[in-house]
Amino acid sequence: MTLPDEFLWGVSTSAFQIEGAFTEDGRGRSVWDEFSPVVDDDTAEIACDHYHRYADDITLMKDLGVGAYRFSIAWPRVQPTGKGPANSAGLDFYDRLVDGLVEAGIDPVATLYHWDTPQVLEDEGGWLGRDITGRFAEYAALVADRLADRVKLWIPINEPVVVTLSGYAIGEHAPGKSLLFGSLPAAHHLNLAHGLAVEALRANGANAVGTANNHSPAWPATDSPEDRFAAGFYDTIHNWLFADPQLTGAYPEEAAPFLPIVDGDLEKIAAPLDFYGVNYYNPTRLKATTEGEPLPFERIDIDEYPKTSFGWPVVPEGLTEMLTTLKDRYGDRLPPVYITESGCSYPEDLADQARIDYLDSHLSAARAAGVRGYFVWSIMDNFEWDSGYSQRFGLVHVDYKTQERTPRDSYRWYRDVIAGDN
Ligand code: NOJ
Repeated sequence: MTLPDEFLWGVSTSAFQIEGAFTEDGRGRSVWDEFSPVVDDDTAEIACDHYHRYADDITLMKDLGVGAYRFSIAWPRVQPTGKGPANSAGLDFYDRLVDGLVEAGIDPVATLYHWDTPQVLEDEGGWLGRDITGRFAEYAALVADRLADRVKLWIPINEPVVVTLSGYAIGEHAPGKSLLFGSLPAAHHLNLAHGLAVEALRANGANAVGTANNHSPAWPATDSPEDRFAAGFYDTIHNWLFADPQLTGAYPEEAAPFLPIVDGDLEKIAAPLDFYGVNYYNPTRLKATTEGEPLPFERIDIDEYPKTSFGWPVVPEGLTEMLTTLKDRYGDRLPPVYITESGCSYPEDLADQARIDYLDSHLSAARAAGVRGYFVWSIMDNFEWDSGYSQRFGLVHVDYKTQERTPRDSYRWYRDVIAGDN
């Protein structure tokens, strides 16, 4: 295993958000193909048409000067029904992409699962059942078998907490289930799938393997015991339900009784990692709910900071706080950290000083905390899940009618920062 020695300057995307080409080369349906409602009835059928334009997109990244590109592989391209032999035509796409990156001098960083579960597996219970964990390990092995000789860093699962909470607890994301506490088995199966995939990747020659968890400092609305309980509850679910078992082999005590743990699972989940990926956007403020409400916390606005178009507060100190908390909580068990996602949505304009300010302040916070690399979300505008095309996170503007890409000021700013570091 080798982690790159130098600070890794990167950009991130995910398959479903940029590729389009829903039916090409035997791709199967995913839960996100089926999901509604999405703002303005937007669909990702074409998205950024990256499936056909990946070579131009690599050129954009090469001109930007990044050393790494974090993308995801669409499970339904590799296994259209989530099981069985690999669909070679689907894997060919990633083969071409990875070759193109290597040729451009960019390290490929591959995520195996960025939320696009094959629909057939969802019909069989999805992450609520245990069967999918073994399927995921088989998928990981198929991908590694083809790409392990060139991919530098591997991330099995992106932000399992969002899949659990948004997908299965409150239904704002695919598969749109509102099971509240009934969603917790999904958390355990995502963790187990992570652990099994780490093992399968290594067995098939993967270089460095890590993870990418979403982290958000949980701030109580007031100092009252009720609000502090609400914040603590959210903190446990959002920040520690995945990080704790992955890094220490134990769940937070209060969560364990709700999880379908089988003997031996925790050892698998805690398979050693070469790096730890943090996706950070903002802190979360919580207040207590009244008795009888389905959840014991409510998220409320943080108003004393500037906000992005999404209404998310811009708080670089929140990143410092989160990185410090991770170090304090895990000590030597915390592997080298990469910021695997950091970014913001702002209006369509090409002059995007607010994005520059956001990235500048968060990058400074990350570097001061000693992280090993920083991946901007995102190289280009893309399909923002249930918000469709309404939120633009790109260093590069995308005109969805013509597919024309136009670099923003923030692209040139990032290019100069990278060039100044080398
Ligand atoms: C994190 C997710 O991984 C990514 O898919 C999403 O677009 C960004 N957050 C922004 O919401």
